Amino acid sequence: MQREQWGSRFGFIMAAAGSAVGLGNIWKFPYLAGTEGGGAFVALYLIIMATMGVALIMTEIALGRRAKANPVGTFLKLGGKRWTGVGILAVFTGTIILSYYSVVGGWTIAYLVKSIFGTLSAAPEELGTQFGGLVGGVAEPIIYTAAFLGLTTAIVVAGVTDGIERSVKFLMPLLFILLMILVIRSVTLPGAMEGVKFFLQPNWADVDVGMVGAALGMAFFSLSLGMGAMITYGSYLNPEANIPNASWWVVTLACLVALLGGLLVLPAVFAFGMDPGAGPGLTFITLPAVFGEMFAGWFFQILFFAMLLIAALTSSISLLAIPVAFFAEQYGVSRRVTAAGAFIVIFLLAIPCSLSLGAMPELKVMGFTFFDFLSETVDRLLMPLGGALTAVFAGWFLFGKLSEELTNNGTIPCAYLGAVKVLLRYAAPLGIGYIMYNSLIG
Ligand code: TRP
Repeated sequence: MQREQWGSRFGFIMAAAGSAVGLGNIWKFPYLAGTEGGGAFVALYLIIMATMGVALIMTEIALGRRAKANPVGTFLKLGGKRWTGVGILAVFTGTIILSYYSVVGGWTIAYLVKSIFGTLSAAPEELGTQFGGLVGGVAEPIIYTAAFLGLTTAIVVAGVTDGIERSVKFLMPLLFILLMILVIRSVTLPGAMEGVKFFLQPNWADVDVGMVGAALGMAFFSLSLGMGAMITYGSYLNPEANIPNASWWVVTLACLVALLGGLLVLPAVFAFGMDPGAGPGLTFITLPAVFGEMFAGWFFQILFFAMLLIAALTSSISLLAIPVAFFAEQYGVSRRVTAAGAFIVIFLLAIPCSLSLGAMPELKVMGFTFFDFLSETVDRLLMPLGGALTAVFAGWFLFGKLSEELTNNGTIPCAYLGAVKVLLRYAAPLGIGYIMYNSLIG
């Protein structure tokens, strides 16, 4: 059987950027910047993206293209039985992420629907209650979660390259332009400069291992690293594509959109006198107030939540593509059946996630709501672990083949191959290990 392939270089970059750019940039990054204390966290995030992030995204794409297989198949083919555990960890982690990601995707649909019907309030004092009313419900958020997961499943069943590539090619640029317009409105609100300062001015005294751990988790999340999403996407890449170049593009775009996301949310938080440390609801609590202050705000609001939904979908499909490619290729199960099975498992995990945020606050694990427990386990344990193991594998056992893949057998230059080697062999395992140890124990 002929394996699917991306149609063009631009298409691949847009698809990989589509996986990177999602709720992570506009929902997660701003609220983490808020709870982690602002500028220093942002700076750490950018530094990690430009070093470990670039090296690992290149590596994952190259491994996938070399093996032309799902993550488990990739580790099996390139490293033998001993390494398949890393692939299995990847499939497992991807499934968990998608469960809480779908809950937030569901909020996005809810806000889109409410914007269309004009039932969202823009009064700053009502925004918290309004958000709490949605997530604290029982049926409403769960139905929206099912809708989000259903959309994701439908797209993945339709095939990876075609559907994804065609839609992201024009949606990504559009999202970018829209974000710029909204950021301009947010930073020119009276009192917004406090927020800009909070977000951009690093206070280095705040830095501790916990913050580095959070920035590392955010960087991995944002580049879709550490669980084989980029291995899977790389497996559909043609042999002529320039992997280092594409990787830099994806990292740059992911950083830019995260910065725009932060500049959209945090200045508004300060302008409306809200609490930057409010947590996962921050983006949803803040934005309606921004639209309320805008010319044709209702129009921008509908457009924004529609774009956010699409950005979320181009990411969630890359998550679901992992288990689907795995079961389809390793066990020959049809895409349709696997996707349906994945839907059920993920949805069953998503239900307690959603309930733990309001309707059933007693759903706690180790003091965290079930939602936060899953998200923290992924950020602080599963993704860094997957990333470190991938780095060790590629750096110590496969570097020769990796260099061939990164330079297309020596036909394209890659001046920093030596730096990539040091990052993979030493910096990634030691650094990540140290951070994981401390942020888990501490
Ligand atoms: N990068 C996406 C975001 O920022 C989330 C995501 C999609 C992801 N696929 C992934 C995270 C794979 C980790 C692994 O919204």
